[in-house]
Amino acid sequence: MTTSPIPEILTHLDAGVLSLTINRLDRKNSITAVMYAAMADVLIAAESNDAVRVLVIQGHETIFSAGNDIGDFLNKPPSTQDAPVFRFLHAISAFTKPIVAAVCGPAVGIGTTLLLHCDLIYAGDNAAFSMPFVNLGLCPEAGSSLLVPQLMGYPRAAEALLLGEPFTAETALEMGLINRIVPPAEASALAHQQAKKLAAKPLSSVIETKRLMKQANASAVKQRIHDESLSFGRMLSEPAAREAFTAFMQKRKPDFSQI
Ligand code: COA
Repeated sequence: MTTSPIPEILTHLDAGVLSLTINRLDRKNSITAVMYAAMADVLIAAESNDAVRVLVIQGHETIFSAGNDIGDFLNKPPSTQDAPVFRFLHAISAFTKPIVAAVCGPAVGIGTTLLLHCDLIYAGDNAAFSMPFVNLGLCPEAGSSLLVPQLMGYPRAAEALLLGEPFTAETALEMGLINRIVPPAEASALAHQQAKKLAAKPLSSVIETKRLMKQANASAVKQRIHDESLSFGRMLSEPAAREAFTAFMQKRKPDFSQI
């Protein structure tokens, strides 16, 4: 069964595996508020739909996601906790069924941080991960200020989050962010193959195992996502972010010298 909540977010349900495809190639799969709302709705519906046993998230072979749509953030910054971006983050971080991701090409900002809430991640050898929040006058989101140092250790987290330095698929594999590197043309097929394996297992056992593995961190992650979203929401309207977004739209380097 194929449905499409909006053209930029495609869904397809087959034998217990629900695929969610980010499909906005002309804008490098950057994500607007409308897309976050659609993704949150898909996740919330999938949670209570017995026909869905596993979720697969993917982009395109050339680009996973360029992160938040910068024009959208400039014009309509999310100002409340029920804004679509925060609804999406809550839905993905609290999703009880397994999530498998196929990641190829750039995965910027939330394109990388949403992966912290996936269970199995298969990356194309062209994958490039980055969390350039500081470069945009922002701060980490999606619980990344907690989960990235836990995953990589503080020194490498500081390079990724304070300097905003990108890292390759090989580095992501070595740090334990992803499971395997394959040619980009094979990433989606491998993700679906692994998802089918999960879908064939007893769902209650899969859900309970995921819950137990995540239990030690669950309330800290929820609290951190909330704390980050308060700071992130405030910083979106402050001078540094406004300068960074405006510079991006005007295709120039930002000037933070007066900020
Ligand atoms: N928001 C809005 N538009 C974006 C975008 C974003 N996050 N990322 C890319 N686009 C737009 C570009 O402005 C460009 O538009 P144009 O055709 O009108 O000039 C188009 O998508 C193609 O992007 P381009 O930068 O030319 O593609 P590229 O292949 O050279 O680079 C990226 C791809 C993802 C590396 C680069 O686009 C990028 O760094 N994007 C911004 C990422 C970012 O800072 N995201 C926010 C994280 S919080």
